[in-house]
Amino acid sequence: MRRLRRSATLREMLAEVRLNVKDFIAPLFVREGSGVRKAIPSMPGQFQFSEDTAVETVRRWAGKGVPAVLLFGIPDAKDAAGSEAWNDGAAVQRLTARIKQDLPDVVVITDVCLCEYTDHGHCGPVSTNARGQRVVDNDAAIESLARVAVSHARAGADIVAPSAMMDGQVGAIREVLDAGGFADTAILSYAVKFASSLYGPFRDAAESTPHFGDRRAYQMDYRAPRQAAIEARLDVEEGADLLMVKPAGAYLDVIANIRWRFSQPLVAYHVSGEYACIKAAAANGWLDERAAALEITTTIKRAGADLIITYFAEQLADWL
Ligand code: PBG
Ligand code: ZN
Repeated sequence: MRRLRRSATLREMLAEVRLNVKDFIAPLFVREGSGVRKAIPSMPGQFQFSEDTAVETVRRWAGKGVPAVLLFGIPDAKDAAGSEAWNDGAAVQRLTARIKQDLPDVVVITDVCLCEYTDHGHCGPVSTNARGQRVVDNDAAIESLARVAVSHARAGADIVAPSAMMDGQVGAIREVLDAGGFADTAILSYAVKFASSLYGPFRDAAESTPHFGDRRAYQMDYRAPRQAAIEARLDVEEGADLLMVKPAGAYLDVIANIRWRFSQPLVAYHVSGEYACIKAAAANGWLDERAAALEITTTIKRAGADLIITYFAEQLADWL
């Protein structure tokens, strides 16, 4: 076997998988105000931006070839319903319109969820069920999520990405988009989203940690991977155009499985905790950041992901 590994050129020729800058989707956090560039301590190199600084950042990323961004909003005021999420004048909607105006070739994907907007931090409104328990109300949630998606589509989002893991959310969103004249807005479903410890830094960044309980009654259990195929099938039936598996690096088996079962484009989300692990180890001199980020993202593509959502997008663009 060593005959084929003798030179860098041979190894390059025989590579079966290659990263390309067009594989990457860069997440971005936007909040109200101007001139904001607030560092996120648990995600070194990542920031909360305001509209103006965000546009400059997206312009720089696009200049390096990064084709798409995934927008998350952080509102100034939260309420029980998360109503700022469907305010046409909110930060995500304004930034979306601004990017589509100034940088029309950049693909704008918006995260459609309520956890950044609710005062309790859950992904939908909380109600008391017939047994007196506090639960996230599925059907009320999907009605709100549909309003959010229409608001994002109206602002110009190319793709809306529902991430709340409510049953029926993709179908509800497809229906209102079509009814509202947004038949050409695509849906990237967070179809296979596990309840994961690896979202911790994101919740610092998005200020979306649940104030009580956790998300295990709606996000998937990592011990039950066969449910991934059911989740994906339901979302395809409801009209998902692209599927997502999340997290990515620790779920390569799931990515491979969904890749072979479904023909929809497959997106993997290399999440905040996966990013933070590499950053922290590199900061301690315990591993080579560039080598580790290239290796992990390549294995995500090798497992079957067509596109990778990653906080390393700009650095990877530089390295490639
Ligand atoms: C919102 C959402 C989360 C992430 C993406 N969309 C957090 C969560 O479910 O708590 C996680 C992204 C990351 O960790 O990088 N539902
Ligand atoms: Zn959420």
